[in-house]
Formats: sequence, structure tokens, C-alpha cells
Amino acid sequence: MSKKKVLLAFYSGAGSTKTIAEVLLIKLQKINHEIDLLDIDVGTDVNILNEYDFIIFGTPTYHCYPPKTVSEFISKIKYQTNIKHIYLFATYGLYVGNNLRMIAKEFLNKNIQTVGFTGFKSPASDATLLFPTFIKMMYHYKSSIKNEITGTVNEIDRLLKSNTFKTKIPFYKWYAPLDWLPNKFYTARKFHKDYKPNIKVIIDRWDGKEIDCPRNCWEIINNKPKYNPDNCEFCLRCIHRTQNKAVIFSNSMEDRERLDKGFYDKLKQELLE
Ligand SMILES: Cc1cc2nc3c(=O)[nH]c(=O)nc-3n(C[C@H](O)[C@H](O)[C@H](O)COP(=O)(O)O)c2cc1C
Ligand code: SF4
Repeated sequence: MSKKKVLLAFYSGAGSTKTIAEVLLIKLQKINHEIDLLDIDVGTDVNILNEYDFIIFGTPTYHCYPPKTVSEFISKIKYQTNIKHIYLFATYGLYVGNNLRMIAKEFLNKNIQTVGFTGFKSPASDATLLFPTFIKMMYHYKSSIKNEITGTVNEIDRLLKSNTFKTKIPFYKWYAPLDWLPNKFYTARKFHKDYKPNIKVIIDRWDGKEIDCPRNCWEIINNKPKYNPDNCEFCLRCIHRTQNKAVIFSNSMEDRERLDKGFYDKLKQELLE
């Protein structure tokens, strides 16, 4: 049994990172680790970290960068007088770039030392809405995912039983900008200029429930959902998770398959079998 107080914190837009976090939690609990789970959003109080000795932290990759919600969360953490240890994992649709390295450095600035890290190729929450549907890999975790999860669980188990730690900052990938340049200057611009301002509800499809957003961009006014793009980071949660495909950002994607709760519940079951 781990004597350390352990928190598994994650941020997730559509649900790829959430699914991995929940699977890791179940697998670590099965080998007798007591771990609390924290689903981060814009309002999460960072002081909760003070209660824990060891953190497991999961994040998606957005344009080869950490999500804004993650960087804002880390920026609010006070410098830790006693060093803390963290294990990082990132999900990504195609290429993680230097995302893990950037997050490790952001945590290190707060005296939170990365002692292990990994990436999981996951369903691509952006590409499934935009790329041709015959690209089946967009809808799946990598075929070796179960082995990768087992390896990660074993590594975290070893770390939780250990008392000596070595900092492990992911190496800088000098070739990452080859992906980052078109990603930042074409894709990110397109998403944020052409798509983000056009997020809207098709009112006939809306089920009347509040729209789930980690950055509080939606409120109900006069019985209708109203979207405010100012704080939106285009995480796509409202697009994927709202029932009946009621939230869209363009006519061309409005009937595309959503990576909704049912989609991730099925994948989670497969990962746990
Ligand atoms: C705005 C946005 C940008 C993305 N950029 C990248 C990227 O640069 N590289 C990549 O491999 N995947 C990218 N993706 C795909 C996500 O990283 C991937 O689907 C991830 O698992 C989503 O996790 P989540 O569902 O927990 O948010 C992007 C997704 C979104 C919504
Ligand atoms: S409005 Fe939608 S895409 Fe924007 S941050 Fe909220 S859930 Fe994510």
C-alpha cells in the first residue's frame, strides 16, 4: 500500500485524457494504491495540491502546446518550499511535439519535479470533425495502448513505492517545429479565426440541459444557451459532449460523429478488459 498521498489530476476537452485517467485510476487502485481524482477546469483551486505528496497529471495536446487551462492552472500554483514529485502523461491525436517538455518545465518552475512521463496516441478530437472519415486511426487509441497502460501503471507503482527520485525532463525535439509551424500558423489560426467565433447551438436539437464547458463559456439566457467566445480555447467539449449533435462550428461538420460519452465508455470498457 502506498504511504504517499496521491492525486491524479487531469484536464480533458472531449474525453480522451479523461478516459486514460479513469483507466489508470482503476488499475492503480487494483494494486492497492489510494488515489484521489481531480477533473480540472478554469475554476479549480490549485491549493488542493498542498494536500498531496505525489501527483499524476494528464493533459491533451493542442497545437503541440499545453492547453491554456493547464498552463493557467500551473501558473496559479505557488512555489513549493518542499519539493513535490509528478508523473506526466499527455494524449495526442497524431504528434505530441514538445508539449510534455513544456509542461514539465512549467511545473519545475514551481519546484514540482517530473519523475516520469509518457504519451498516449488517442482519438483525435479535432480531426474526427474535419478530416475524411475513412482515416480510422482518428477514432482509436494506438493498437498497443493496453501494453502502454500496463507499462505506465508499473512505472507509477514503482515510483509510489520509492523514496528516491530523479528528475526526468523530456528532451527537446528540435524537429518538432516542422509540425509546429504549419500547426501554429495554419491550423491554430483557422480554428481560432474561422471556427471558434462560429460555435453555435442548433436550437431544435438542443435537449434543454446546460452545456458542459470547462471555461464557463455558456450560460442560459431566456431559456436559450448563449455562447461567449472570449474565454474559449476550442477544446471541443461542447461540440462532442452535447446530446443530439446540437452544438456545431460549421455546416460541414454538423452531422459528423461525435466523441461523446457513449463513444468513450465503450473505449474505456475495452481498455479495462
Ligand atoms: C484545438 C485542438 C488542437 C489539437 N492539436 C493537436 C496537435 O497539435 N497534435 C496532436 O497530435 N493532436 C492535437 N489535437 C488532438 C488532441 O490532442 C487529442 O485528440 C487529445 O487526445 C484530446 O484529448 P481530450 O479529449 O482529453 O481533450 C488537437 C485537438 C484540439 C481540440
Ligand atoms: S465553448 Fe466549447 S470549445 Fe470553447 S472552451 Fe467551452 S467547451 Fe471548449
